[in-house]
Amino acid sequence: VIDVAFTRADLRRAEVAVVIDVLRATSTITQALAAGYRSVLCVADVEQALALREPGRVLAGERCCVTPAGFEMGNSPLEAVRVYGDELVLTTTNGAPTIVAAARHAARVMIGCLLNLEALVDALRDEDDIQVVCSGAGGRGALEDVYVAGRICRGVPGLRSDAARIAESVAGRYRSPVDALRASDHARTLEAAGLDDDIGFCARESLLDVVPRVTQARRGIATLEPTTARADTLIA
Ligand code: MLT
Repeated sequence: VIDVAFTRADLRRAEVAVVIDVLRATSTITQALAAGYRSVLCVADVEQALALREPGRVLAGERCCVTPAGFEMGNSPLEAVRVYGDELVLTTTNGAPTIVAAARHAARVMIGCLLNLEALVDALRDEDDIQVVCSGAGGRGALEDVYVAGRICRGVPGLRSDAARIAESVAGRYRSPVDALRASDHARTLEAAGLDDDIGFCARESLLDVVPRVTQARRGIATLEPTTARADTLIA
């Protein structure tokens, strides 16, 4: 069955979890790995990220759309186009903690957004126990994530849950990805923060052939790598 979690409170055990935070964490991760970072280390807290500082690591993230003190980069996929180190350490308000939580529930965790939609749907085609996990915002559903979840569900054959059917209907309501993303509350927040260009960037569809996967999850750190073949995930 293909199922959707509208927030991480709906996480359940599944063979594959696909985490979505299209505005902007999962778009940033996908872009960073496509650009050439070897891995992205996702953590829930700013302090955890600071403790991971090492030569070759770049600290990226946001709190209320602002780059935390001592970090090199925000959580912008536009900033992730250029590579400044070997590994990106990323902490964000909703996306990063959802990835860490998903790695505790699913045997395998993949990262999805619009940038890698086609590659992701291809990777899921033979799976039969999938939960698409929307990161949402502050424990509430977010339109932009449900839209992308619906687009994924529409591409994957097989049985679906009611939650997947709901997401598919949401996806069918919008003429284009940018219409759906711009209709969301989070688009207003990004516009107000002067991050409008990120919305257009994240709305671009199937440009990247990278499916980030969690290859290790230990001590609250989910390591993501740009694997394209099936990879076993180590669960702590
Ligand atoms: C998050 O994880 O909450 C987001 O990616 C927020 C953002 O930076 O736009």
